[in-house]
Amino acid sequence: MGGMVTVVTHPLVQHKLSVMRDVQTGVKEFRELAGELSLLLAYEAMRDLETVQETVQTPITQAQFPMLSGKKLALVAILRAGLIMTDAIVQLVPAAKVGHIGLYRDPQTLQPVAYYNKLPTDIAERRVFLTDPMLATGGSAVAAIERLKEAGATSIKLMCILAAPEGIAVIEREHPDVEIVVAAVDTHLNDHGYIVPGLGDAGDRIYGTK
Ligand code: URA
Repeated sequence: MGGMVTVVTHPLVQHKLSVMRDVQTGVKEFRELAGELSLLLAYEAMRDLETVQETVQTPITQAQFPMLSGKKLALVAILRAGLIMTDAIVQLVPAAKVGHIGLYRDPQTLQPVAYYNKLPTDIAERRVFLTDPMLATGGSAVAAIERLKEAGATSIKLMCILAAPEGIAVIEREHPDVEIVVAAVDTHLNDHGYIVPGLGDAGDRIYGTK
């Protein structure tokens, strides 16, 4: 039994993603689109945030209106490409705390190792939105989710721009409690671990390192 996967099929999301896929799209536009897409994904990922009715004095009268309540939020970026997503989303939810997890692959074991792990101290009490633009093999996401759970997190959503079915299957198997919100699920991974048709290396395209 897998967890829940939400594919955000909204035309604005799909259009922006298609432009990001285009090899002709340069760093500036790619970065802007990644930020915009992240806001639209967050809108969907945060659809189930709780609200309570609170009294507000408008210029006309006093009445009850919904305000956010419930658990506070944490945005956690998987370095480095996840930064583009948390930097955008924090504009929508300025009260959220932001954590960072840096991972590298051990050349011997091929397992992801956390070289950096800085999370809000009260992460156990927060709803966590974990960001990584590309869910490929799922190795980094699984390692990051393990770090989050070790720190006490119990409510985690994984937000990605693009996923491979292989990566989704790994999350569903290892962490079926983690919901995935993604703009599209492509066909497969190639022999080099790239998503096909994909958009290339997201980190390199965001930071111009290629
Ligand atoms: N990471 C990327 O940036 N791109 C892929 O296609 C797969 C993993």
